[in-house]
Amino acid sequence: MALIMAIETSCDETSVAVVRDGIDVLANIVSSQINVHKKFGGVVPEVASRKHLELINGVIGEALDVSGACFETLDAVAVTHGPGLVGALLVGVSAAKALAYALDIPLIAVNHLEGHIYANFLAHPDLEFPLVCLVVSGGHTDLLVMYGHGRYRVVGRTRDDAAGEAFDKVARAMGLGYPGGPLIDRLAAGGSGAAVALPRAYLEEGSLDFSFSGLKSAVVNYLHNARQRGEEVNLADLAASFQQAVVDVLVHKTLEAAVQYRARTILLAGGVAANRLLRSGVGEASASYGLRVVYPPPALCTDNAAMIACAAYYRYLRGDFAGLTLNAVPNLELDGDL
Ligand code: KG4
Ligand code: ZN
Repeated sequence: MALIMAIETSCDETSVAVVRDGIDVLANIVSSQINVHKKFGGVVPEVASRKHLELINGVIGEALDVSGACFETLDAVAVTHGPGLVGALLVGVSAAKALAYALDIPLIAVNHLEGHIYANFLAHPDLEFPLVCLVVSGGHTDLLVMYGHGRYRVVGRTRDDAAGEAFDKVARAMGLGYPGGPLIDRLAAGGSGAAVALPRAYLEEGSLDFSFSGLKSAVVNYLHNARQRGEEVNLADLAASFQQAVVDVLVHKTLEAAVQYRARTILLAGGVAANRLLRSGVGEASASYGLRVVYPPPALCTDNAAMIACAAYYRYLRGDFAGLTLNAVPNLELDGDL
């Protein structure tokens, strides 16, 4: 039995969870700063770290209240130590270190991307390896093969924009607001994905890498040309066509990776995994190969501490603890022990 408190402050959500044995989410408090950053059209790092500082103690208290746990019953405290905004990460890392020291319990350091992957293990602790996981968030687009707990290899990644970043930038160019992913997802439901011809970057034969900056530029050019000609743009059609172009490439490469690495299961993870077309697209394509597709419920796709607690549980079982000199690592890479 292991009762783990996890703290996540890598970007603009202050989140604290209490999870038992990597599956029972007793509390998962997410205090979003989206409304604070909205007026700037994106996350302002300085503002984010100040907000985390203001919120962190209250969110820890709320997580204890909701879970019915108390500090003395915790077996370990876990924290995201990267990748992310350094000032934001430091708030969580400092809080977790203080708790681990004061309570004399182990400190567990979790990579934020590993957390996204483990959002799937909260509901499915029995997933079979090897599996292929597509991590698509605001800062990353990584395709990886996982051979066991904590054992993975990145086999493809974006060469420029992350998928979520492309959603956010295109939404901004279309005047939709921030964050762009959910807005495009909703708007696209009323449009046609075939209405506007947009490029898909499959890159060299066999490559599992991604590139979304050309697609983003194509949308910006399309808007610019229409404006110059004084033409009205059907935003629903443009949103649907952009989304279709992103999803086509994500689905194609994920399936290719699954076949190449003989995986029977595909996981989707990260904020963009909440996208409805991506979920249905991967699901449909996988069915013809007899592959199992798993993705977290939307609330566990975006940043939250329950996923960090789940990843921490498997580190806890391995006795993989951090020292009290733990620091924030803004560019932390996935390190899969392979
Ligand atoms: O994982 P996440 O919450 O934060 C990072 O670690 O980056 O991902 C946030 C990203 C944003 O770019 C947001 O626009 C995108 O996920 N996103 C979506 C959807 N919901 C969130 N993108 C497409 N469709 C969605 N439904
Ligand atoms: Zn994230």
